[in-house]
Amino acid sequence: MRFQGTVAWVTGGASGIGLAAAQRFAAEGARVAVSDLNAPGCDDAVAAITAAGGSAIAVPCDVRSLDACVAAVARIEQEWGRLDHVFANAGVVGAGGIEFTSEDDFAALIDVNLVGVFRTAKAALPLMRGSDSGSIVITSSVEGLIGNALLPGYSTAKTALLGLTRALAAEAAPTIRVNAVNPGYIESPMTEPVAQMMPEFKQAWAQKALLGRVGTVDDVVGVVLFLCSSDAAFVTGESVAIDGGAVAVR
Ligand SMILES: NC(=O)c1ccc[n+]([C@@H]2O[C@H](COP(=O)([O-])OP(=O)(O)OC[C@H]3O[C@@H](n4cnc5c(N)ncnc54)[C@H](O)[C@@H]3O)[C@@H](O)[C@H]2O)c1
Repeated sequence: MRFQGTVAWVTGGASGIGLAAAQRFAAEGARVAVSDLNAPGCDDAVAAITAAGGSAIAVPCDVRSLDACVAAVARIEQEWGRLDHVFANAGVVGAGGIEFTSEDDFAALIDVNLVGVFRTAKAALPLMRGSDSGSIVITSSVEGLIGNALLPGYSTAKTALLGLTRALAAEAAPTIRVNAVNPGYIESPMTEPVAQMMPEFKQAWAQKALLGRVGTVDDVVGVVLFLCSSDAAFVTGESVAIDGGAVAVR
């Protein structure tokens, strides 16, 4: 029970990596606020967590709105009076080279994936300052480490998140740590359509990985919870690739 007595806020918590993280935080003793654009999905996540004996509330929130993020934190404060861990994870992907990407498409990817994390952290930090072991983990991507001709908006946002991680780590120290995770290809509802339409893309990532497979949501969640735990008490401003070694080598 590493997180007994703490409160965790997970954005993008209705699906995939965020849902699995919310469930693991709760299983390890945290009270969890599940946020997502998908309000019924938040309710389903909370039902699953409480059925398993955990404690959670649904706090639907669109990270494209600072007011919505501030309201979500106000709800958490009202319910539990504290906030220790934030998993800023909500994100969307959009594929297409620059010639097929409109300004609006590009801006929309930046708005959710980058500014959404800025809004999440901006809303959370005032309440987190009351925690003696606060931790923010931001979901970037291996697409923030390497270029991808088909993902200009997504890659730009995920790369910029690594700068935001370091800037926030500097600002929030010494009581709050800020780190990022860079997942590679992870099996989730986000990648499912790609797996269906382009199985060779998934296979290529599995072959690229030194460990010979693509990732699971639990592969990511294990690292996220490590970064929030006291085992990572001296780690801040850092990012960890969770990709089976795919981008470590040529
Ligand atoms: N799956 C992968 O291979 C992979 C790889 C690297 C990074 N990531 C990142 O991991 C994160 C989670 O992805 P996933 O694979 O679990 O995808 P997912 O689609 O299963 O989950 C993403 C969740 O974010 C929510 N969301 C989208 N826009 C939102 C908004 N404006 N406000 C609030 N919630 C919103 C969605 O409703 C969804 O529930 C994303 O940031 C994604 O970019 C995923």
